[in-house]
Amino acid sequence: MQKPKGTYDVNGELGRKTICIVNLARTLMEKYNYEYWRTPLFESSDLFHRGVGETSDIVTKETYDFLDRGNRNMTLRPEGTAGIVRSFVENKYYANPTQPIKTWYYGPMYRYEQPQAGRFREFYQFGVEVFGSSDPAMDAEVISIPVNLYKMLGLKNIKVRINSLGDTDTRLRYREVLMNYFRPHLDKLCDDCKARFEKNPLRIIDCKVDHDLDIMKNAPKILDYLSDASKKHFDEVLEMLDSMEIEYVVDPEIVRGLDYYTDTVFEVTAESSNLGRQNVLCAGGRYNNLAKTIGGVDTPGVGFALGMERLISVLETEGIDLNTEAYLDVYVIPMDENYKKNAISLTQTLRLNGFKADTDYMNKNLKSNFKQADRLNSEFVIIIGSDEIKNKELTVKNNKTREEFKVKMDDIISFFDERIDEHE
Ligand code: HAM
Repeated sequence: MQKPKGTYDVNGELGRKTICIVNLARTLMEKYNYEYWRTPLFESSDLFHRGVGETSDIVTKETYDFLDRGNRNMTLRPEGTAGIVRSFVENKYYANPTQPIKTWYYGPMYRYEQPQAGRFREFYQFGVEVFGSSDPAMDAEVISIPVNLYKMLGLKNIKVRINSLGDTDTRLRYREVLMNYFRPHLDKLCDDCKARFEKNPLRIIDCKVDHDLDIMKNAPKILDYLSDASKKHFDEVLEMLDSMEIEYVVDPEIVRGLDYYTDTVFEVTAESSNLGRQNVLCAGGRYNNLAKTIGGVDTPGVGFALGMERLISVLETEGIDLNTEAYLDVYVIPMDENYKKNAISLTQTLRLNGFKADTDYMNKNLKSNFKQADRLNSEFVIIIGSDEIKNKELTVKNNKTREEFKVKMDDIISFFDERIDEHE
């Protein structure tokens, strides 16, 4: 039996790295005062059709759809935003007096894509969604989250790219301009773009196939067509980023593949990666019409999501070590089977006092147990046998320096408190 194409297993070092990053993200979210939300892995297909958009590649080509046993059309979530917005609306969070509502999430997403480096069919996103505020400072705060997380992890070669797609007025006007511009050149465009021309001409701008054509380079830029309100919003977002000392480039080619965005859109790319086009580490933006589109009260929103797999891959490319080597504080060795109960009880006490402790479950002899302590990279070893029980005194060895100590049973916790740093 093999795992399905485009999926991967997590174990060993990859498991430790994943947990390390998730813990860091969780701690960061506490500092930012965001709350953890979770929504189902599957939702009614209609949510994603309305939310992510009928014309998006995700909905037209990539969803995992199924009929449940009650003949309902269901879809494995291809992204996190639509579900969180549905939850916001369904749980009437718009009526909560504490606005804005700031949320974060972490979990698997499913897209039927052609698997390649940095592109999977099951992948994990960490993301945030914020509701109720149209303040440009809110956009800037959201952008600062991945930037700070990447900085905390030690990533160096990242770039924030930002653009504005304007409000509804802007986009209606720009749509006309783009259609007039591309109409005489339709024969030069790829088949996908020919289809996009009527449905969503904006997407022609970020077409990877037609990217190098002259007509693409000279295409009108949305930033030149922003309404006064959208221009003001965008300028203020940039000022807020400046005041937070977050570097960025304005990149008019960012139009995003999901239909829900309004005003600010952004991506953070890894400049040093060997992921090719998959070097987009995270992406997001504003979606002021989404709550209304899925049938809720008109509420502005802004958020982003980052891909865990791409982040881990770029950390490797940049040679960043997260210090996730396996280790133990203490390995407890019973002299023989008669002292197993004592060993397990002592291990329990150590764990409850915050130490990373383990013991023998394979009835190994003393020599094999010392080897096991080395394999587990244990800093200390405790031996427990008849003398130790009789004298109420444990034999403790520092497994690195080979120093040996006799420690009264009652003093064992304070002994380790003095010698072992607190771990995360
Ligand atoms: P997205 O650009 O589709 O946006 O995905 C965000 C990130 O998820 C990407 O930058 C990438 O790191 C990762 N990602 C996407 N697809 C894959 C894949 N097939 N394999 C591995 N990683 C992938 C969204 O999903 C929006 N919901 C973001 C957002 C949140 N906008 C507002 N709020």
